[in-house]
Amino acid sequence: MTFFDEIKTYVGFADADADALAALRPLVSPRFASFSEHFYEVILRHPRAAAAITGGDAQVDRLKQSLVTWMETGLAGPHDEAFYERRERIGRMHVAIGLPQEFMFTAMNVVRLDFQHALDELAAPDARATRDAIDKLFDLELAIMLRHYQRDSEAKLVQRERNVLADRFIAMQTLTAGLAHEVRNPLNAANLQLELLERRLRRAVDDDRLLEPARLVHHEIQRLTQLLNEFLDFARPAELVANDHDLVAIARHVIELERPIADARGVTVELHVTADRVLAWIDPTRIGQILINLIENALEAVGTGGRVELRIAGAIGGGVVLTVADNGGGIPPDVLARIYEPFFSTKEGGTGLGMAIVHSLVELHGGTIDVTTGPTGTEVTVRVPPAPST
Ligand code: HEM
Repeated sequence: MTFFDEIKTYVGFADADADALAALRPLVSPRFASFSEHFYEVILRHPRAAAAITGGDAQVDRLKQSLVTWMETGLAGPHDEAFYERRERIGRMHVAIGLPQEFMFTAMNVVRLDFQHALDELAAPDARATRDAIDKLFDLELAIMLRHYQRDSEAKLVQRERNVLADRFIAMQTLTAGLAHEVRNPLNAANLQLELLERRLRRAVDDDRLLEPARLVHHEIQRLTQLLNEFLDFARPAELVANDHDLVAIARHVIELERPIADARGVTVELHVTADRVLAWIDPTRIGQILINLIENALEAVGTGGRVELRIAGAIGGGVVLTVADNGGGIPPDVLARIYEPFFSTKEGGTGLGMAIVHSLVELHGGTIDVTTGPTGTEVTVRVPPAPST
């Protein structure tokens, strides 16, 4: 059932209503010009509504004519899908020009009342049924027009959430970069001094008991350095070295790297591609990093006997879609809400930077990332847009 069919059923708009409207049309249409005059008179009296009209008298004249046609076609029908599509375009236009939503209701009421007053004066064959038909029609018109407002506010909400996340990210990246750079220099110096100490110890006394603590410190410093490198990966200033690369080749390489880990855990990893080569405008190292992080997460999410799939496909309109799916137990809602948050981790020993790095690298490509998850598994979808046109 289409949206239009659904709302027609809801308001009870039937053939009898269409017939009543068609019968009314010749009686009321001589008044359309004056309804239209009145309609724009009211708009022009209200500064916030009038602000939407930027083209002066010429635009108002054109709009008056459009409204007459709107009334004619509304009564004439047929009220089919083609009708719906034409009406939908009007709604889209109002949203595009930034007309506040409340004027849809108020303006519709202006026409509605004009029709009702006319009906009082005209000897319509069945006044009650005609009045009902008009009401139903205008409610349908409103429902269609408002649909775009809803879509628009949903899109804005998503955008706002993305912006908030992006701002938080930038703050975290700045902090991390500053800290990591500050720590790196003394850490390097300590490492060098330690190597010196080890060498001198070995030369002076060949005693394993003395060397062992130095070796342990060395190991800890290595761990710290690795952690620091991860921080820097997350915080590195954004610079994309993109070109046309074959995503399938990169994916195969990543899967070969991850295979031993998967085998050790008893997890199968499969690659599904729609073509032998899928060219995309990407930074191969960064895309490789994205895939590694996503696959490693997926491997950790499934138990022995689990399955991880990497799918690669060209996208409609250009660009590519890559999906990493697992059949693990899903991500709980409280964790899902925080997965891109730097330093948020539910894993023992995790830095909490894996998904934050993925997020910032996807953003770097101008792409988007979506996660769907449930008790039967998780799917992470990354969309990378086509090369920017130069
Ligand atoms: C019952 C409510 C309304 C109806 C039925 C209606 C109808 C229409 C129609 C038929 C069009 C032409 C679309 C096209 O060219 O494809 C249009 C466009 C437009 N409407 Fe409305 N409208 C309504 C409310 C309003 C209100 C309250 C304003 C306030 C200023 C407004 C301002 C405009 C503007 C600025 C355009 C752009 C037209 C252009 O210059 O091309 N509309 N509307």
